[in-house]
Amino acid sequence: MINFFDPASDKSSDLGTPARDSEVQVSLNIDGRAISVPAGTSVMRAAAMLGTSIPKLCATDSLEAFGSCRMCMVEIEGMRGYPASCTTPVSEGMVVRTETPRLAGLRRNVMELYISDHPLDCLTCSANGNCELQTVAGQVGLREVRYGYDGANHLAEKKDVSNPYFDYEPSKCIVCSRCVRACEDIQGTFALTITGRGFESRVAAAGGDNFLASECVSCGACVQACPTATLTEKSLVQLGQPERSVITTCAYCGVGCSFRAEMKGDQLVRMVPDKNGGANHGHACVKGRFAWGYATHPDRITKPMIRKRLEDPWQEVSWDEAVSYAASEFRRIQLKYGRDSIGGITSSRCTNEEAYLVQKLVRTAFGNNNVDTCARVCHSPTGYGLKQTLGESAGTQSFDSVMQADVVLVIGANPTDAHPVFGSQLKRRLRQGARLIVIDPRRIDLVDSPHARAELHLQLRPGTNVAMLNALAHVIVTEGLLAQRFIDARCETEDFARWRDFVSQADNAPEALGPVCGVPAEQIRAAARLYATGGNAAIYYGLGVTEHSQGSTAVMGIANLAMATGNIGREGVGVNPLRGQNNVQGSCDMGSFPHELPGYRHISNEGVRAEFERAWGVTLQPDPGLRIPNMFEAALDGSFKALYCQGEDIAQSDPNTQHVTAALHAMECVVVQDIFLNETAKFAHVFLPGSSFLEKDGTFTNAERRISRVRKVMEPLAGKADWEATVALANALGYPMNYHHPSEIMDEIARLTPTFRRVSYAEIDRHGSLQWPCNDAAPDGTPTMHIDQFVRGKGRFMLTGYVPTDEKVNNRYPLLLTTGRILSQYNVGAQTRRTGNVAWHDADRLEIHPTDAESRGIQDGDWVGIGSRAGQTVLRAKVSGRVAPGVVYTTFHFPESGANVITTDNSDWATNCPEYKVTAVEVVKVFQPSQWQKRYQDFSDEQRRLLKERRTAEKAEVRR
Ligand code: SF4
Ligand code: SF4
Ligand code: SF4
Ligand code: FES
Repeated sequence: MINFFDPASDKSSDLGTPARDSEVQVSLNIDGRAISVPAGTSVMRAAAMLGTSIPKLCATDSLEAFGSCRMCMVEIEGMRGYPASCTTPVSEGMVVRTETPRLAGLRRNVMELYISDHPLDCLTCSANGNCELQTVAGQVGLREVRYGYDGANHLAEKKDVSNPYFDYEPSKCIVCSRCVRACEDIQGTFALTITGRGFESRVAAAGGDNFLASECVSCGACVQACPTATLTEKSLVQLGQPERSVITTCAYCGVGCSFRAEMKGDQLVRMVPDKNGGANHGHACVKGRFAWGYATHPDRITKPMIRKRLEDPWQEVSWDEAVSYAASEFRRIQLKYGRDSIGGITSSRCTNEEAYLVQKLVRTAFGNNNVDTCARVCHSPTGYGLKQTLGESAGTQSFDSVMQADVVLVIGANPTDAHPVFGSQLKRRLRQGARLIVIDPRRIDLVDSPHARAELHLQLRPGTNVAMLNALAHVIVTEGLLAQRFIDARCETEDFARWRDFVSQADNAPEALGPVCGVPAEQIRAAARLYATGGNAAIYYGLGVTEHSQGSTAVMGIANLAMATGNIGREGVGVNPLRGQNNVQGSCDMGSFPHELPGYRHISNEGVRAEFERAWGVTLQPDPGLRIPNMFEAALDGSFKALYCQGEDIAQSDPNTQHVTAALHAMECVVVQDIFLNETAKFAHVFLPGSSFLEKDGTFTNAERRISRVRKVMEPLAGKADWEATVALANALGYPMNYHHPSEIMDEIARLTPTFRRVSYAEIDRHGSLQWPCNDAAPDGTPTMHIDQFVRGKGRFMLTGYVPTDEKVNNRYPLLLTTGRILSQYNVGAQTRRTGNVAWHDADRLEIHPTDAESRGIQDGDWVGIGSRAGQTVLRAKVSGRVAPGVVYTTFHFPESGANVITTDNSDWATNCPEYKVTAVEVVKVFQPSQWQKRYQDFSDEQRRLLKERRTAEKAEVRR
């Protein structure tokens, strides 16, 4: 999958207009050659399918044809004039000529007009060699321009360089409107428009004087669509045209977009979304397309380091020394405190192969099951809830399935910010007429976005999801909206009857639970009716469902609704958890939880254990090990003393920061493997430098269970990929691991995991990507699950009694804080804070409703103190009607914000997933940072000094 770069590669495969899906075939003749194509196909596309490239400028196969440039004229027998081949559909028996002397003359004339208003700086232009205008000028044989530059032209127009990632150079614009249509059709933001008419027509970004100030969300679709150098990546301007490309997968969110990493030498020039990407079909967001500069940021630490105490300066050592030291510390601690005194955390940022190795290391070399992953704090309730009801811990559909949905219910998720490429696809479906229900405490963008808005927004009080789901179920059952035939055929009868009786009770009626949720009963009834009777209905949910004390209950409530209405087991329906991190699905699949071996098989199952014992040559412990919160408790109790933490920043991401940092302080050996000195690394004794996704081979698994290849485009800056460091650590601990390439690790995973049995790098390369289960029963993978029967056999309705959270508002803490993400930043921000994305969001803010702000004397931009039962912090206020009165909201991308200083230890009853989404707080106007922030600043400054001393010593050594 390493391609020598053909600058036109993507464009030469551009068939001009989108494919049509029709069972009716139409036969025609083009330049004397016969072809049959699906009805609705354009003449241009049909010609391209024959290998005939008709000159074009305004057409591209990712967009519907527009017919403005007139470059693609053809002659068609029986038709007058010269129709545009991009907008003319084929018809039976049609006879087309694409090249005649008359057409050649006309095309040259049109091109001459374009070029007469275009700077002739091709040799120094960033697009030289990869410009469609240049290519088409050559294609039509233009040799001279008769008009000169004396008349009116646009050559002196000013460049807009405001966007951190791309420039807009209007003098090069041919007003083909591909950018405008890309922004509308692909991205769905409608930020661009063509102002003026005729000669005055110009592209303009709406809502601001320049791109940065406009409504543009910097997805880059317009840049990709532009046939000239008018919209160009700054990185391309700076580095020049790439020489080769490698297909790989985005390392940010769970959409799992596929990209061509375009390289020049070992420098990344740009990331171009791959048209063949199963999850993204050539689209991307600002993070994946542009925010990759962190990978070579000067803050990267590329040498292993050790220190005895947190107060000591870091000492740079060789890989061997660092790994031996870590191994000797782990062994010393086990000898002194017992086998179970150490554990590991796998990373959802790392590859499947790397997560697999870390859990294997813990279960073999550590000899216990003390392994957990960050899914503990995000989607562990999904794993539990879907396993109980449907039998498999994963979402049921492909993203593309949404294009068959008639009704979409989004609950506790914000796709346009957190899963932007799926958000764009969803908006496209809404523009086609699907109806939307949003259940969220906040007025997210989807509630009212350009040309797509929610029919119903149930703005519930944080913490009341289960009450809401029960009220919806009540309406479905009591108003006779059940899919009884589906239930009778596919679900456990007794469990269904018990559930039906439970939800039918009067105390589950909207009239009873509406006031609990803060939503009028009639709105709940309308939503239930729409979901149950509107045709194909699909549910999409996120952390706004899982991160609650009843997160698992809510997931089961969602699965109950889907089964009750028969909305499962086909395209357009289903239960779809929108996974947060790039590989959170994968890290769970790989056996990262303390109670499960790879493939979600319980550690207590003797047969399963025996299989792994044979393969791994060790005896496995039969009991589940410690979860992350249990590790913290045990550390504070003195029984848990050492941790191997790969690619995870628990000190910033886990709730109740002060509790977490106290636990880390109490450990004798913390080994952190990361690309930066993150918040957790400030408490580390061993630092193993990590590798970015650009520096290694492996696979990620996205929210659709899609396994995609991650391919190395540059050598690891620290000399080892993450999997190699784990192998070295296992060997140093006396447990032999011998892998020469991650493909061998995947082969072992496939041998040991029934749902991965037919997965291999060769098969992934052959298919592009594979959705598990992929085994003998489904050799090409499984886009839609539970088609004929549920994985567990019959679907199981679970009782979902509503239990209000212990986190109650009172006079002291009268507001409810809920948290979420923003488009331009990503989780703990370690990557995005080190990119140009800070231009959009350089600090976390507290959203507060105008009424709550006014009663506290708070104005937009004021510093405010936020206090909860766990702690206090200080942020700037953003007065906003997006939140309801009584609710405040913040993001958590900056460590100094201390959002998790406020969140409490409350957690999901089944999985310990923290209740990030509900914290009772008070907000007051203040003038200085909180005590915690002052302590944080002092500690961070000290740790930075200790890091700097190490670096200074290193430089001094070099000079000597
Ligand atoms: S970058 Fe995306 S959002 Fe911005 S103008 Fe271009 S297509 Fe529209
Ligand atoms: S900016 Fe590019 S895509 Fe947009 S109208 Fe101009 S030339 Fe066409
Ligand atoms: S939507 Fe997610 S996977 Fe796709 S480019 Fe953006 S961050 Fe990457
Ligand atoms: S490509 Fe057909 S009119 Fe422009």
